[in-house]
Amino acid sequence: MLNSFSLEGKTVLVTGATSGIGKQTAIDLSAAGAKLIITGRDETRLTETRAALQGKGHTHFIADLLDFDTFGSLAEGLPSLDGIVHSAGVTGHLPVKFISQADISGIMQINYMAPVLLTAALLKKKKINAKASIIFMSSVTTKYPYYGGALYGSSKAAIEAYSRVLALELAGKGIRSNCISPSFVRTPMVDDAGKTISNEVLEKFEKMMPLGFGEPSDVSHAILYLLSDASKWVTGSNMMLGGG
Ligand SMILES: NC(=O)c1ccc[n+]([C@@H]2O[C@H](COP(=O)([O-])OP(=O)(O)OC[C@H]3O[C@@H](n4cnc5c(N)ncnc54)[C@H](OP(=O)(O)O)[C@@H]3O)[C@@H](O)[C@H]2O)c1
Repeated sequence: MLNSFSLEGKTVLVTGATSGIGKQTAIDLSAAGAKLIITGRDETRLTETRAALQGKGHTHFIADLLDFDTFGSLAEGLPSLDGIVHSAGVTGHLPVKFISQADISGIMQINYMAPVLLTAALLKKKKINAKASIIFMSSVTTKYPYYGGALYGSSKAAIEAYSRVLALELAGKGIRSNCISPSFVRTPMVDDAGKTISNEVLEKFEKMMPLGFGEPSDVSHAILYLLSDASKWVTGSNMMLGGG
């Protein structure tokens, strides 16, 4: 591997590491030399991810990222970070006329408020090193709408707008902020979507993508790049991973 793609010496926090993209990302980042701090809600699956990490010195902790009040003490207990991957998130499919206040707050709390408030807590506790890289998970949905995707797409559009401002405000310290916007990636999130979207519609979506649905490693490799020094000139961007 070219040295500029190595993550040796970097400490990276990955949320949502119990499943899908976050899990694969943690595994691949450890293989690239990073020291990982991983979190999720499900203890069994978090322990499985931890066991799959390469190298030494990793840590894991259980946290519900809707417990915003705990973010100050959570940040206090963390070491200084060279990278953050905000992968925890939920999806939701609802036609616009059925959207309620509870639906809006449900999706915005985990997809928008949690990463924003966690980043603020880490900045206040001075836990984000100069030249660190922060990555938020958005979605192609913000550019390519689908029926029922209003809330999910809105939550991701909000995090994209936030990430661009964060990039501006932290540029003085060389800290970078970027989004990754995948299309459909085969994870438990997409399996769950199969409960509310018919297989017929999912197949139609896949046929629209020249390279078909993605795998978690298609996203984790892009995350690896954005965390590495190879991307040191990239900030405020949104990388679309749409399979063509
Ligand atoms: N898969 C796709 O097609 C796709 C496409 C575009 C964007 N994305 C985005 O990529 C990210 C990862 O998606 P994925 O497909 O990997 O999803 P996933 O397999 O369903 O995993 C979601 C992760 O989020 C965590 N999480 C959810 N609510 C949480 C909470 N309140 N507190 C702490 N952790 C919480 C889950 O933890 P537990 O399981 O431990 O509860 C799990 O680790 C999401 O932000 C998603 O919106 C995914």
